[in-house]
Amino acid sequence: MINDLWYKNAVVYCLSVGTYMDVNGDGIGDFEGLTRRLDYLQGLGITTIWLMPFQPSPGRDNGYDISDYYGVDPRYGTLGDFVEFTHGCQQRGMRVIIDLVVNHTSDQHPWFKAARSDPTSKYRDWYVWSKAEPKNATTGVVFPGVQKSTWTRDAAAKAWYFHRFYDFQPDLATANPHVQAEILKIMGFWLELGVSGFRMDAVPFVISAKGARVPAKPPEQFDMLRRFREFLQWRCGDAIILGEANVLPEDDMKYFGGDGERLQMVFNFQANQNLFYALATADCRPLKKALKATKPRPATAQWGMFLRNHDELDLGRLTEPQRAAVFAAFGPDASMQLYGRGIRRRLMPMLGGDRRRLELATSLMMTLPGTPVIRYGDEIAMGDDLSLKERECARTPMQWSTEPHGGFTKSDHPISPVISGGAYGFEHTNVADQRRDPDSFLNWLERIIRMRKEVPEIGWGDFQFVPTGTHEVLAIRYEWRRNSVLFVHNLGAQPREVTIERGAEGEHDGLLVNLLSGDHSEPDKQGCHRILMEAYGYRWFRIGGLDYLLRRSEV
Ligand code: GLC
Ligand code: CA
Repeated sequence: MINDLWYKNAVVYCLSVGTYMDVNGDGIGDFEGLTRRLDYLQGLGITTIWLMPFQPSPGRDNGYDISDYYGVDPRYGTLGDFVEFTHGCQQRGMRVIIDLVVNHTSDQHPWFKAARSDPTSKYRDWYVWSKAEPKNATTGVVFPGVQKSTWTRDAAAKAWYFHRFYDFQPDLATANPHVQAEILKIMGFWLELGVSGFRMDAVPFVISAKGARVPAKPPEQFDMLRRFREFLQWRCGDAIILGEANVLPEDDMKYFGGDGERLQMVFNFQANQNLFYALATADCRPLKKALKATKPRPATAQWGMFLRNHDELDLGRLTEPQRAAVFAAFGPDASMQLYGRGIRRRLMPMLGGDRRRLELATSLMMTLPGTPVIRYGDEIAMGDDLSLKERECARTPMQWSTEPHGGFTKSDHPISPVISGGAYGFEHTNVADQRRDPDSFLNWLERIIRMRKEVPEIGWGDFQFVPTGTHEVLAIRYEWRRNSVLFVHNLGAQPREVTIERGAEGEHDGLLVNLLSGDHSEPDKQGCHRILMEAYGYRWFRIGGLDYLLRRSEV
């Protein structure tokens, strides 16, 4: 029964329909195209697809400005195409979660249009207004350098409206019970069409008090999360919410709920930022600290572990010197940085095109405590196009083949230019070539995903760090149901021999079975292991003998 919690060990893959695969040749990816790629995703071993917003939208924030919550943007297809897609996923045993963007709407949403033009409209109170410009109007801006204020005057309304993000994204008054009822209705609608849950956008802002007179740090209304969760589970017992909440570890339990009654999953931004620090400096101490700090969570909850997503790599939670170190290693040029806190590049260019480092980073994502979330294109190590503005540089179309426009579209006017020329151009970096090459990163990832699925200890078990005698090598052990696994990662650019001691209770004194090659490790007479790690090397071991599969069948 415990295995019903499918999200504890899922492999999630996120993508935008518009940049994935265009079938009708208008230059814009569509649901039909995506549906034709489901066999590819299944072959890769993906168990869950996270779709970024695909609802009707003026498209000024990559779809995060929605103008109708109950439809499909006609550029991507119809509701019918959407249901064909979820059905296709179901047939292949894959689940779908979709973005739930309810902190704000587009300013083109009919609710906002009614609210601004008619003070007596029932939608007036669905937004957050002030007669005069609030004192705090320039604080709490999310996109510094691009967005100047969080309040904008609307001439028709003769009032100022609140927008946490861009000025074309008026915030919904989420404390209003009518707005909350509508949010439940939206969830109920998509559940009926076959989704298994939601990636909830900007959760801390959804639940924070909003208005002209709220304190500098507005109180959160956590109970809202319990209400969303309850509704979800009444309608569909195994549906989940995966929250986007870049918060401090001391607040994590408030998002999960002490009894696991709020969000089932939250992205681990703390681990993400410290992981990049570790990759940049080969010092894994802050990462260990972050993993310890985010360890407490209810038994039914799970972290989302990721490397890159569709936004900038936000380094805002690191200390100033730590952030400077990551900038120096992965985004030294001002054009690579964004909003004063992050890096806007894709993963492989950040890692200098070094396959060893890409495998190391991916292996870490797969083995740190949580459920891995892969960004489309990272399975073939796609690059970025820094000539595109803000976060668009890392949202270019998927590169399928060496055909024109990477096989993404037959149109000569793709929605965003396909990366062409150079090491990351579709001519060199594409799915078709990598599929044929047994040594490609794509095939490496497929094998790693297969093995990740055979190690449920990561999702279910308890973890401990194992001393290695150096800050450059991270060793982490999981225990679950009398099974143990050990992962060793060398973050350094130098080969290193590390010693894994037998452990206080002899927990490491047996054979370490290498899960990725035949190179097992025998203990010495004292029960210690000496493991020679190559530069950026990684090892996946099962502790205690070759019969692990037999033992697993006992559970
Ligand atoms: C979230 C999304 C981001 C978007 C913002 C406003 O942070 O990840 O892409 O711009 O919310 O919706
Ligand atoms: Ca199309």
